[in-house]
Amino acid sequence: MEQLVIQGGYPLKGEVAISGSKNAALPILIASLLCEDEVRLTKVPRLRDITTTLKLLALLGADIEQDGQHVLVRPGHLLPEAPYDLVRTMRASVLCLGPLLSRLGQAKVALPGGCAIGARPVDLHIKALEKMGARFELEGGDITGHCNRLHGARIHFDFPTVGGTENLLMAATLASGETVIENAAQEPEIVDLAHFLMACGAIIEGHGTSVIRIQGVDRLKGCSYAIMSDRIEAGTYMAAAGITGGELSLTACPFAHLGAVVRVLRDMGMDIEEVGDRVVARAQDGLHCVDIETMPHPGFPTDMQAQVMSLMCLARGSGVIRETIFENRFMHVLELVRLGAAITLSGKQALVQGVKRLTGAPVMASDLRASASLVLAGLAAKGTTIVRRIYHLDRGYEAMDAKLTRVGAHIRREQQR
Ligand code: EPU
Repeated sequence: MEQLVIQGGYPLKGEVAISGSKNAALPILIASLLCEDEVRLTKVPRLRDITTTLKLLALLGADIEQDGQHVLVRPGHLLPEAPYDLVRTMRASVLCLGPLLSRLGQAKVALPGGCAIGARPVDLHIKALEKMGARFELEGGDITGHCNRLHGARIHFDFPTVGGTENLLMAATLASGETVIENAAQEPEIVDLAHFLMACGAIIEGHGTSVIRIQGVDRLKGCSYAIMSDRIEAGTYMAAAGITGGELSLTACPFAHLGAVVRVLRDMGMDIEEVGDRVVARAQDGLHCVDIETMPHPGFPTDMQAQVMSLMCLARGSGVIRETIFENRFMHVLELVRLGAAITLSGKQALVQGVKRLTGAPVMASDLRASASLVLAGLAAKGTTIVRRIYHLDRGYEAMDAKLTRVGAHIRREQQR
């Protein structure tokens, strides 16, 4: 296992190129299974979760070629089974339920277990697919689904689930008739998936709003498509500029999708501006704490909660962070406290009281965004911070240590002893 060793206290300065979005690339790769012809994707980030998805597609019968950020998928003769060994390492595997049911009329996908940030059941995906005519059984830890051709339906999600909306959107493209998804998730990654599906011939309206309408078609062709930039990676580098008192210029930054994050960072005192084709984030004077509540898009994203908490640890005053999306997404709190942060947890809320300084220490990453928050804290802490278990970080941040090194961070990757 590898770890990152960070010498804190160096303001970051320079340019960071934002990679393709993990959470857009995963469903789009899986949606390629719906197509009869080949799909060419560009700006696919080189991440562990992408490697896992490509393995999954290959096991399902697709032919894959990868050359850096270019991926070619030829769906070929598909098989209906996604095994537990892959699903347990990446929950997004459950997204192949919709495409497999609509292409093959059957699917057998291991039920993902709980994960570090919460129970994360998939009941809403299943109920919605049932409304479209699928029947499911749970046996031996696998969900097995069968259907004749899926049919259109009106589906109202009790909660705007991102994965559930993606699964349904994919399933509905090849279903007979019209599907209406109400209380749909509005995340930009859903819009990217819809754009990809439309480029393949799907008929979709309302993506990016809470009501999505899909008219089923008989077949989808392939297409060439560039994955959108990663808004959470961009937000993380903005926070990195803030916590080190530096200035970063972000290229390929999806500024329009960062509304709530930019508002919070500006409220804290950061200066964030679009300058030509880039976004410049800087924090010249000290920052102050604010209150934050995570919400579905367009609210403040849960995927930025941990990183902004690190930023608040060194800001003036105090602020309350309320996590409403996942029940257990505060695993970074005790690790930040090891670095000297003053945070009190009470149920879904964390009260952060800014301190004058953090001091380096060994800390343990528990999930992807928690890892990023610890790296940020390490960049600002006095002395040496060692972030262990960085395989979590490698699931979702492309070459983070290399990108940070280029803008002046003192960070190195080494084998964990
Ligand atoms: N939920 C249910 N039942 C369901 C589906 C969801 O109870 O059938 C609950 C979950 O347990 C959770 C909440 O609803 O508490 C939100 O889940 P959602 O389905 O919206 O999220 P997801 O599809 O599992 C995606 C991202 C997450 C991101 C969330 C919220 C991908 C691959 N994952 O997860 O990304 O936090 O949406 O925006 O797109 C990350 O990148 O670090 C990450 C965790």
